[in-house]
Amino acid sequence: MKARERLIVALDVSTLEQARSLVAELHDLADMFKVGLELFCSHGPRAVETVLEQGGRVFLDLKYHDIPNTVAGAARAAVRMGVSMFNLHIAGGAEMMMAALEAALQEAGSDVVPRILGVTVLTSLGAGQLRDELGLVRPPAEQVVFWAKQARDCGLSGVVASPQEILSIRQHCGNGFLIVTPGIRPAGSATDDQKRISTPGAALHAGADYLVVGRPITRASEPRQAALAIIEEMEAASL
Ligand code: C5P
Repeated sequence: MKARERLIVALDVSTLEQARSLVAELHDLADMFKVGLELFCSHGPRAVETVLEQGGRVFLDLKYHDIPNTVAGAARAAVRMGVSMFNLHIAGGAEMMMAALEAALQEAGSDVVPRILGVTVLTSLGAGQLRDELGLVRPPAEQVVFWAKQARDCGLSGVVASPQEILSIRQHCGNGFLIVTPGIRPAGSATDDQKRISTPGAALHAGADYLVVGRPITRASEPRQAALAIIEEMEAASL
């Protein structure tokens, strides 16, 4: 896969105009754009259409977590919107994951089925919170692998994981399992609120399939230049 096919730009903006102009500027440099809660709650399916109209593909990052019947319905809706990828919380359980997968397969019929990714442990949660607030006794790194294996066993395409988790997920879940990694910062750029970060090259070396990059591109004074620099770094790492 070419570097630009592995780059997903996070459209963390609140207006359709901002989203449209970013996609217009970047669609030949990134294959996919991530529509998350802010943009989707602001504009609904119009946000997805805005990307598709300009030839971009969509990763719908709404992290579904509900009873199996409800998540199955939301999975069918994601298929009808024409997204290429969407995600759900593995914490919703095996029955929920399998209901989503079955619903997506049915709705897609003979069309391509979107990739369904599992969200493991949110990177904003530390070990103390997992234990004391959520009652999860495994250390976060072990919990991530435990859930990633469940997602794989339920037939999901892969997981969203922080750079630190790539190696162990790859080891336990094998090569065909997709790892989509946010928290990417080119060497020397601002870390913003991200704590566990990695450069594009290091994340690819560790085994990531797709990199999700937001602010280093979308808040750059020259988003195209920023994206090109990241793609160069990715290409150098894949050599
Ligand atoms: O701007 P930045 O590159 O930090 O954006 C990363 C994107 O990936 C954001 O949309 C953020 O919500 C998302 N994300 C993340 N960490 C996770 C899961 C998703 O940063 N564990």
